[in-house]
Amino acid sequence: MDRLTADFERTFGAAPTGVWSAPGRVNLIGEHTDYNGGLCLPIALPQRTYAAVSPRDDSVLRMASAQQEGLVEVSLGEISPERPGGWSAYVAGVLWALAKDGLTVGGLDVLVDSTVPLGAGLSSSAALECAVAAAASDLFALGLLESAEGRARLAARCVEAENTIAGAPTGGMDQSASLLCDERSALLLDCRSGDTRQVPFDLGGAGHVLLVTDTRAEHALVDGQYAARREACEQAARELGVDTLREIDPSELDDALGRLDSDEVRRRVRHVVTEIERVEAAVRALEADDLAEVGRLFDASHASLRDDYEVSCEELDVATETARAHGALGARMTGGGFGGSCIAIVPAGVADAVASAIEAAFADAGFTAPQSFTVTASGPAHRDA
Ligand code: GLA
Repeated sequence: MDRLTADFERTFGAAPTGVWSAPGRVNLIGEHTDYNGGLCLPIALPQRTYAAVSPRDDSVLRMASAQQEGLVEVSLGEISPERPGGWSAYVAGVLWALAKDGLTVGGLDVLVDSTVPLGAGLSSSAALECAVAAAASDLFALGLLESAEGRARLAARCVEAENTIAGAPTGGMDQSASLLCDERSALLLDCRSGDTRQVPFDLGGAGHVLLVTDTRAEHALVDGQYAARREACEQAARELGVDTLREIDPSELDDALGRLDSDEVRRRVRHVVTEIERVEAAVRALEADDLAEVGRLFDASHASLRDDYEVSCEELDVATETARAHGALGARMTGGGFGGSCIAIVPAGVADAVASAIEAAFADAGFTAPQSFTVTASGPAHRDA
């Protein structure tokens, strides 16, 4: 925090008015369900993105990052999918979306720094948007951090920023997680109704840890694969005559699959419908303290994402298989896929051994060295100073 404040002063010539932060996330289960009106179950990470911010008396936005070279400047009225582009689109997009929502915002000086690993599938971009949104809410007296409804509205603006200005057609889970998750809880998010429920999630009490392994395999949500999956689901919903795949009850799945022509689309639909069922089952298992069952659901989710949804990759498969072979109760990819991170529920005593085994398996396979760490469910976006 001291370094961020000092860097802000060096960059912008005066101390910041305040510092706000927002967490990255891991999704426990419910992958590629958010844009299908489904259920997902993220936790907020201890890793956060910090934004030191001062308001300006004009409508200029100046942005700098400890992770990037240079200072980016744009007028609020000039923000578009083309401008300012790059990482700063995630910052500028939030101001654009708030203004579009009819809220009065002005210029800002912003310096960001992050402990969320970039490109690890842990939602560093949502953390960035939500830290800026939290700052804007306080500095422009929008009052949106003070209620769950306000936070949900901020999350929706951050999603618009990401979809329209940053150009990533993502579904909204990450921003809701960053603004609405509570400590020691997972957030059950119903993406059809917008309803949320906190589900107790404290593995420490049960002698287990959640081990995250950043595979460091390439992954980019702006590439075509994510958009193609989303499009296949929307196409299938149209063919089946429903608004979203959430409308397909598991008991009607076989019938629905029989009405689809393409084998590929059938598999995509099967993943979504069964994954939503697995979220409900995981919540029941967590509430019954049945971690073994949660582990089995993790494994089933990974298999479905690998075989039916086809968004895993070799690194994620090796990491999950190795974790299981060395004592994990279950393991799965988390986030969009094609790289990014794997999560595993591991007895606390073997967490180091599992991490070392994954590292050795990666070395054997000739992959880039992975990075493993344990996480606990942490708190949402807030003002730090
Ligand atoms: C990315 C997106 C989310 C969600 C996941 C897959 O993280 O940002 O909206 O679709 O992929 O569950």
